[in-house]
Amino acid sequence: MQLDRGYLIVFEGIDGTGKSTHCRLLGDFLASRGIPVVRLYEPTRGFWGQKIRGILKDGRGDVTPEEELSWFVNDRREDVEQNIAPALKEKRVVLLDRYYYSTAAYQGALGFSPEAIVRDNEAFAPRPDRVFLFTLSPEKSLKRVDGRGEKSSFERADYLEKVQRIFAAFDDPVIQRVNTEPPVDEVHARIRQAVLELIAQDAL
Ligand code: TYD
Repeated sequence: MQLDRGYLIVFEGIDGTGKSTHCRLLGDFLASRGIPVVRLYEPTRGFWGQKIRGILKDGRGDVTPEEELSWFVNDRREDVEQNIAPALKEKRVVLLDRYYYSTAAYQGALGFSPEAIVRDNEAFAPRPDRVFLFTLSPEKSLKRVDGRGEKSSFERADYLEKVQRIFAAFDDPVIQRVNTEPPVDEVHARIRQAVLELIAQDAL
């Protein structure tokens, strides 16, 4: 199936809310319908993404908040140039696990202005067609993360509470909040419906 344009669909929310599961399920579903789709995630595996993964694994050490913020932004710049923009140009559906809303929330929680982060990112990063913002209490999402046994240094309860408060305050018409407490199939069905409507609306 040929789309009339590319679509950028973003999954956001704190760790353990189910972003990667739903990104995968939606990707498989769209591919099964013959819709050209590409799945991406940030931080990437690129140069800046690797530096970021270092601090996720070993802690922030002497990396300053300013440096941390710039690494996420540099990583995104690279992702936009190398992956996101080309895929949109090829009229694919791009499913993106985290984007600049994460920077606004996570680095905003370090003291930067979330609004300024969004503004700076939107100067180079395409605005999404839809953001599925997953809501689940930090307590429940941390339980899921604990179950995976791979907790990163960003997954401390008090930090995630702050991150969650910033996510909760976002007020942007592209954001659709999704409670990921119900069973995976149910949540997937809602997301799938929303995406088919989004694509069909434009096709009309
Ligand atoms: P995550 O999606 O958990 O990656 P993975 O599952 O591959 O380990 O993202 C890693 C962490 O990075 C997560 O705790 C959120 C954080 N993060 C930021 O702080 N700012 C950002 O801009 C992004 C994209 C992620």
